Amino acid sequence: MEIVPFSPELKNVFVELNKAWISAMFKIEPADIEEFSLIEQAIEKGSQIFFALDDNKNVLACCMIRPCENNEWEILKFAAKGMSTGTGAGSACFKACVEYAKQKNADKIIIVSNKKLSQALHIYKKFGFTEVPVDKEKFPFERGDIAFELVLNSKRNMTKSEKISVYETVLPQIESLVSGVEYGISSLANIAAVLHRNLGCFWTGFYVVDGDNLLLGPFQGDAACIKIPKGKGVCGTSWQKGETIVVEDVEQFPGHIACSSLSKSEIVVPVFSATGKITAVLDIDSDCLATFDDTDKLYLEKVVEVLKCYESFV
Ligand code: SME
Repeated sequence: MEIVPFSPELKNVFVELNKAWISAMFKIEPADIEEFSLIEQAIEKGSQIFFALDDNKNVLACCMIRPCENNEWEILKFAAKGMSTGTGAGSACFKACVEYAKQKNADKIIIVSNKKLSQALHIYKKFGFTEVPVDKEKFPFERGDIAFELVLNSKRNMTKSEKISVYETVLPQIESLVSGVEYGISSLANIAAVLHRNLGCFWTGFYVVDGDNLLLGPFQGDAACIKIPKGKGVCGTSWQKGETIVVEDVEQFPGHIACSSLSKSEIVVPVFSATGKITAVLDIDSDCLATFDDTDKLYLEKVVEVLKCYESFV
């Protein structure tokens, strides 16, 4: 199976696949006819349609994504041959749409669907979409009786003053969580949890210094690489230089270690002990470009100051 973007020769099959499922279960509405007549224009304005092709180049499924207001994108016209191919073709097209919106730095993806479309609803949930009320003004389709959204990154919506307000709230929480705690690892774990919940990034955690390496410490998010030598990656470089590193685009950072393909930008802050030794680094990863700036640097450096009472974490 292969996933390909829109090309004019695929237009008819897109229309036919969609007409087939709509008329099998509902009725074709005027808004559908309008959408089918404006496909090329929609593509020109930034929409995309992904098609799953079998080995003989037959279209198995298709799915469209289009930009809306406020950096929201909508997934629509999701159709599979015979409603379901059982080959994962629908999921694969859907995934291509989600990836496309992420590449475009969308804040949110929205979908309006129908409760009868159980296989499609299953796919939305599998990709982490959550149910929200249907906005009938925005979505005039009669068959629209259930809606979903996927918030891609809440932090990048934050203005400078919102960021400051988040940090001003979490800083005293973190100070009190760490105060009097002897076992440093527990403090790292609690700080990772509080920052992760409040900043909304996809990975928040610590690497602790052990000899010439950083070892994976407490974190929130997906499984990550275990050992980073001094001077390697963003973490090892921050440790070597003894300074915070803000990376706006990880692809532009030579030697960046990609623990997740979602990673787009990153901040790494060294943790100093009272005697001035670096004992760990705090690493936060975002799935959007340029999430972190001087405000994050300023506050995260204050956050890690609460860890100076620990001389080592290993
Ligand atoms: N990106 C880091 C590695 C750690 S993971 O992203 C969690 C680096 O380049 O050092």
